[in-house]
Amino acid sequence: MNSRWIALVLIGIIISLSGHDALTYPERFDRLPTWGGHSQIGGGALLDPAHRENRENRVDLCRHCFCIHLKAICDYKLNKTLSNEFNDKLLVPLNIKYIEVRLTAGTQFVMYENFFQDNQVNYFGVIGVGKDDQVEITSNAFSHNKGGFPNIEIRNVLRVFLREKFLTGADYKLLVEDVAQLSVFSNALQMTNLDCSLKRIKELNLMKNAFNPGVAKYGINLRIEDSNINQLGIFGVSMGKVSLLRCHIDMIMSNAFDVTSIKELIIEGCNIEVIESQALTNKLHSDKVAIVDTVIGTIEGQAISQSGITTMIMFGNTITKIRSNAIQIVAVSLFIRNNSMSHVEPNWLSVSQADQVEIANNRFQNYGRCELNIGSSNCSFRNNILQNPQSGSLNFTCRVHQVRVGTECSCNKSWLSELTDHDLESEILCQLAERDGNCFNATNTDVRRYVNEACASNVTRYCMGGQWVTKAASDQASDSGKLTIGMIALAIVILTLLLVTIVCLLAKNWGSGSGTAGGCQSADKCLIEEDIRDQLRQRAQELSGGSATRKGILKLINGRLSKKECNDRVFLILDNMPQKSQAIESLLLRHISQSHMEAMQV
Ligand SMILES: *[C@@H]1O[C@H](CO)[C@@H](O)[C@H](O)[C@H]1NC(C)=O
Ligand SMILES: *[C@@H]1O[C@H](CO)[C@@H](O)[C@H](O)[C@H]1NC(C)=O
Ligand SMILES: *[C@@H]1O[C@H](CO)[C@@H](O)[C@H](O)[C@H]1NC(C)=O
Ligand SMILES: *[C@@H]1O[C@H](CO)[C@@H](O)[C@H](O)[C@H]1NC(C)=O
Ligand SMILES: *[C@@H]1O[C@H](CO)[C@@H](O)[C@H](O)[C@H]1NC(C)=O
Ligand SMILES: *[C@@H]1O[C@H](CO)[C@@H](O)[C@H](O)[C@H]1NC(C)=O
Ligand SMILES: *[C@@H]1O[C@H](CO)[C@@H](O)[C@H](O)[C@H]1NC(C)=O
Repeated sequence: MNSRWIALVLIGIIISLSGHDALTYPERFDRLPTWGGHSQIGGGALLDPAHRENRENRVDLCRHCFCIHLKAICDYKLNKTLSNEFNDKLLVPLNIKYIEVRLTAGTQFVMYENFFQDNQVNYFGVIGVGKDDQVEITSNAFSHNKGGFPNIEIRNVLRVFLREKFLTGADYKLLVEDVAQLSVFSNALQMTNLDCSLKRIKELNLMKNAFNPGVAKYGINLRIEDSNINQLGIFGVSMGKVSLLRCHIDMIMSNAFDVTSIKELIIEGCNIEVIESQALTNKLHSDKVAIVDTVIGTIEGQAISQSGITTMIMFGNTITKIRSNAIQIVAVSLFIRNNSMSHVEPNWLSVSQADQVEIANNRFQNYGRCELNIGSSNCSFRNNILQNPQSGSLNFTCRVHQVRVGTECSCNKSWLSELTDHDLESEILCQLAERDGNCFNATNTDVRRYVNEACASNVTRYCMGGQWVTKAASDQASDSGKLTIGMIALAIVILTLLLVTIVCLLAKNWGSGSGTAGGCQSADKCLIEEDIRDQLRQRAQELSGGSATRKGILKLINGRLSKKECNDRVFLILDNMPQKSQAIESLLLRHISQSHMEAMQV
């Protein structure tokens, strides 16, 4: 029994001495080391003399802090003797795995290299009060700690400075949250693997190349949430997944993602003022870049330029301006859905050799043309609203389906041929004027249907009570279809003369007692409702004196016309109005539908 125990101890000593070289280098073990766990109590005895001496000159951390089991709790409010500086004057007992530092208002905490000495601390947390407190962690602060994959947390502190080479070595988990000002210096993060979360940082200052492990490996995952970033220009290396969630970013600078591979870049729910030229360039290689539910001010020209992005996603963003040549990508799947964009300059997007492109459910205010000459089987441009499309903006081979434009439907389709050379009549929806809405029971309809229904046989038709009516139809209905225009005119003149004569005679016979209109009452008389008459008069008087429309209307409302004459005159006015006035048109059509409908059902 005894001899076996002695033998084991001897073997242990031999093993530890032969492992001496390895111990002097920062070597990390698993979170719960199997043999390290047994040796920790007597660990001090196993160290080489230099280390032991070094340790002996130090003051045990537990003399100042509250230590229990594997934990040390250092509270500046309660432990008044504790120095603000964690350095080689303090000794962290080898059994301690967990250190929590609690700051008090005004604490300026600094941590230096050599605070740790062959420790295996898995958790190091600094919790502040957010009032005049500060944390600074300097170069190699953790390099003599060998706890596997240590967890470093800094919370609720006013200012935090993470100096150059703050993290070196292998694997870490870092969380900084609820901090007013966080500065991460250039080359601060030089470890191989890092899982980094930065949350609720009011002013986050990530200096250029803050992440710089110097190895081409997707070992760094970065997640920034609910923070304000002035300039994002940090990524000189390869990263794993980078997520920016609900952040406000003033500027994503030129070359922010240069010389970089990022496995996945997600920007979600953010507000970005400017994405500068060359922000994401051809040096960026990424499996997936997604910009989602983000408000963006301007995307500058060449912001996303020839990037090696496999899948690019833009969903639900609100973008004020996209400049010419802003997005130029090769060989990708590109999905642009549910975005709202105000000003999209010509050639804002250019995609070549894409496997799949889908641009759907977007709303564009001013839409500039772009190159989308991808085979129609791999490219779809559908359900988009282009309020004000520039000419030529649908002139591409990409398949177009159900695209709404702000142009008002009319029988003159010349605007459509300006948009595209392709036959898209049945895919492009124009905006129905209010007066035509009833006949379609919609606010939009495709150009082909409109032309078929509203512009049949080259005659403009009018929508009344949900039905289309034309002058030609009314002519036919009243059996005058065969008459020439000359004959109609002649008939009108004769009829008018006759009527005038009769009216005058009647008026004379009945005298003034029976009122003005009383004698003219007849089934064949044109009766214009008082309200329509007044409004028409008012509208006519707004027109210029010499205008034919004005004269026509005044004649119509002042003359005593037969139903037929009245009907013809109305359509004459409608067809010859030089600039269509919706108000006049609808008044005239209201009159027609009230008084003339039975004569001209189509
Ligand atoms: C440190 O603070 C703890 C309370 O967290 C207290 O129990 C302990 O006695 C203090 N130690 C010293 C040395 O002040
Ligand atoms: C687009 O927006 C609609 C409603 O606003 C929503 O139902 C749909 O899921 C969104 N689609 C995507 C891809 O975000
Ligand atoms: C269309 O996509 C398929 C696979 O998705 C791909 O094989 C083909 O090359 C693409 N066509 C073009 C013209 O890019
Ligand atoms: C459409 O594109 C073709 C070839 O690129 C060009 O010749 C034509 O003028 C364009 N038409 C319009 C309406 O932009
Ligand atoms: C159609 O509209 C265009 C401009 O919008 C105009 O130049 C052209 O003369 C119109 N054509 C007809 C037949 O009215
Ligand atoms: C008009 O459309 C609505 C819904 O789209 C429908 O409920 C209504 O019945 C339609 N009216 C007519 C007259 O077709
Ligand atoms: C419509 O007018 C065009 C010229 O303006 C003419 O070529 C065409 O034949 C007309 N169509 C019908 C149905 O009258």
